Amino acid sequence: MFDTFVIPKELTPADPRFGAGPSMVPVEFLETLAKTGVHFMGTSHRKPGVKNVVKELQDGLMKYYNLPSDYLVVLGNGGATLLFDMIALGIVEKKATHFTCGEFSEKWFKSSKLVPWIETEQVSVPFGKGINGKATPGSDLIAVTLNETSTGVQLSELPQVDANTILAVDATSGGGQCPCDVSKCDIYFFSPQKVFASDGGLWVAIMSPKARARAAKIAADKNRYVPDIMNWTNAISNSEQNQTYNTPALATLFIMNEQVKRMNEVGYAEVQKLAQKKADLLYGWAESKPYLSCFIEEKQFRSVAVATIDVDSKVNVDDVIKFLEKKKVVYGIDGYRKLGRNQFRIAMFHNILFSDLEKLTKLLSSMIESKL
Ligand SMILES: Cc1ncc(COP(=O)(O)O)c(C=O)c1O
Repeated sequence: MFDTFVIPKELTPADPRFGAGPSMVPVEFLETLAKTGVHFMGTSHRKPGVKNVVKELQDGLMKYYNLPSDYLVVLGNGGATLLFDMIALGIVEKKATHFTCGEFSEKWFKSSKLVPWIETEQVSVPFGKGINGKATPGSDLIAVTLNETSTGVQLSELPQVDANTILAVDATSGGGQCPCDVSKCDIYFFSPQKVFASDGGLWVAIMSPKARARAAKIAADKNRYVPDIMNWTNAISNSEQNQTYNTPALATLFIMNEQVKRMNEVGYAEVQKLAQKKADLLYGWAESKPYLSCFIEEKQFRSVAVATIDVDSKVNVDDVIKFLEKKKVVYGIDGYRKLGRNQFRIAMFHNILFSDLEKLTKLLSSMIESKL
């Protein structure tokens, strides 16, 4: 459909990666990693060379989120998906209430529901709508998703919970960029292949003392079998020693640490401001063109990490995306596959340049307009 379209040089983004995850890993980080030569990759994660990087990463996150010193950055292998099970197995005492608004929040709910000895409740809104969640009588864990990557909705405020309730926040794609006071969360978890610009496979859970006390209480219940790989006591004690329970991907840790250092140079407040500026650009573009519309109608729930933009059915977005990928000019702007909409989903993660988003919007407009 676009075979004869010529991509103007001035509209070619400097970096083609706009995907919602795995996200853009800066080439400079890979070069910095390569410069460690024979002294990092292939060395033991139980020795100072790697442990120091993990410590720097943990300290960097504490600083970035301005966390009280009794919070702990806990790490392990398996990604956020493993935490879905790990939280249900080892943090929920009797009942969890999940507030769901898309594929990932539903997936988390479904994982919890499979654990036979806890009760689970789902409070949902249709895909495309936002929901903040609230404390629910009888529930000792409230589960919310900071940024629902499948639909592009973010929380507009955090639920408040009492001293006996755990607030668990899946921050996988919004972590580090969407507004959130992490010191009000008990478990704020994510995988690093989004805003934190690293590779997948790792999970990071920032835990309050209340969450760690809950984990210890449940671990003491010998009637509950929890596999060692999902055991919170193992994860917490290893993290206290700047390690993971089993062998991690060292490159993932290294690259994530580079990104946390980069984000700390500007600070969380500034990162959020830059993200808002990118979001204003994308949603403003969608609102200014008759053939585009914002999928998320409620402005307060529009994500500053991932924008979802519907396109008039006269132009098939798959043709636009296929052409741009074939030309190696733009990668990863497909809508979430199961939503099945004629939609672009564009990440606005910290490393994605504002100027590249500007070029992308102009390029997409000129392609679409050439067919209308
Ligand atoms: C909101 C959200 N939660 C959880 C996950 C699962 O993360 P992982 O694939 O690293 O397990 C994703 C992945 O995209 C996500 O976007």
